[in-house]
Formats: sequence, C-alpha cells, structure tokens
Amino acid sequence: MSKKPWDKGISRKMYTEEQIAQRVKELGAQITEDFKDKEEDLIIVCLLKGSIMFMADICREIKLPIKMDFMSVSSYGDDFESSREVKIVKDLDEKIMGKHVIVVEDIIDSGLTLKKVLKLLGSRSPASVSLCTLLNKEVRREADVEVQYIGFDIEDEFVLGYGLDYKQEYRNIPYVAVMGSLD
Ligand code: XMP
Ligand code: MG
Repeated sequence: MSKKPWDKGISRKMYTEEQIAQRVKELGAQITEDFKDKEEDLIIVCLLKGSIMFMADICREIKLPIKMDFMSVSSYGDDFESSREVKIVKDLDEKIMGKHVIVVEDIIDSGLTLKKVLKLLGSRSPASVSLCTLLNKEVRREADVEVQYIGFDIEDEFVLGYGLDYKQEYRNIPYVAVMGSLD
C-alpha cells in the first residue's frame, strides 16, 4: 500500500513560503531594533512543537547574540483546541532571572496556554517577557495577553503546516494552509 499524498487534507494555501519568509524577516528586524541597546542577555524561548519552524527562521533574522531555549507544555484538549489545563512537560534549561525573554509561538488562539506560561516565567524575575507569534486568532481570545510581535492576524479557520499539526501530521508542509476534507 502506498502512502497518501503528503498534502492531502489541505483546502487552500493561506500564506506561501515567500510571504512567511518576508514577514519573518520584518519581525526579526523589529526585534533586533528593539533589543540592540539592551545590556541584559536575550533568550528566545520556543514552545514545542508547533513553533519549531518559526523559531528556526526568526532566530536567524535576529541579528544579535541570543540564547535559544525550549519548553514543552502539555495539552489535554481535543485535536482542534488547546485544553484549559496546562502542565509543564519540559521546562527551560536556562535561568531567566534578569534576562530578556521572547516567547515564540506558532498560533495564539484562546490565549489560555500563554497566559499560564507567562505567569510562570514572570515569577522567575526576568528583565522582561515579550511574545512573538506567527499567527494570531484574535476572535478566539479568552485570556487577556499582550502580544508584541504578530506575523499575521487570521480568521477563525483551522490551519496546518510550517510547524502546525493535525494529529501530529502536516508540520513539514512548508507553507501555512487551511485544513480541508480528509476523505
Ligand atoms: P491557546 O491556549 O491560545 O492555544 O488556545 C494555542 C494552541 O492551540 C493550538 N491551535 C491550533 N493548532 N491549527 C493548529 O494546528 C490551528 O488552527 C490552531 N488553533 C489553535 C496550537 O497548539 C496552539 O499552540
Ligand atoms: Mg502549539
């Protein structure tokens, strides 16, 4: 039996590789500008797994010395939504006290996950914590979170690719797509 086509289940492209690369470049330049005169260390935190592609790309567009760290929080929700409960599965390796932290997310939906992550990181006395998300679904927001860097504001559609998954698949599609029928 042969494998199904790798992009089956996709109804349309939302952002092409070129559009993503251009926006990531702009965000990287903005972050570089905002942090170039700060003396404290800058740590970029990737929230696994959805942010891996965005993390890898944006870090190369920040033209400053940085440290990269990774955090994994569990989600007990269904396949389309994050859960209301957030548990730390893998914590940071770096100490963030007195340092500037930028949390990199793939998508902010309800904001509930980030609210909890930000509370935890904030309790460790960093110099600052900022948020950078590739996609922002503002219409779904339930928790009040301030997002400093946004790639694209999107409508309430389920998206895949460039790190974003459905049942752990589709992360390696290089563009952002709207999910279609899986039949
Ligand atoms: P919050 O707490 O902001 O959680 O609701 C955001 C997380 O929910 C998942 N999510 C999506 N994943 N396509 C996805 O592949 C989507 O359209 C989508 N909307 C939300 C994702 O894990 C994100 O980190
Ligand atoms: Mg995620």
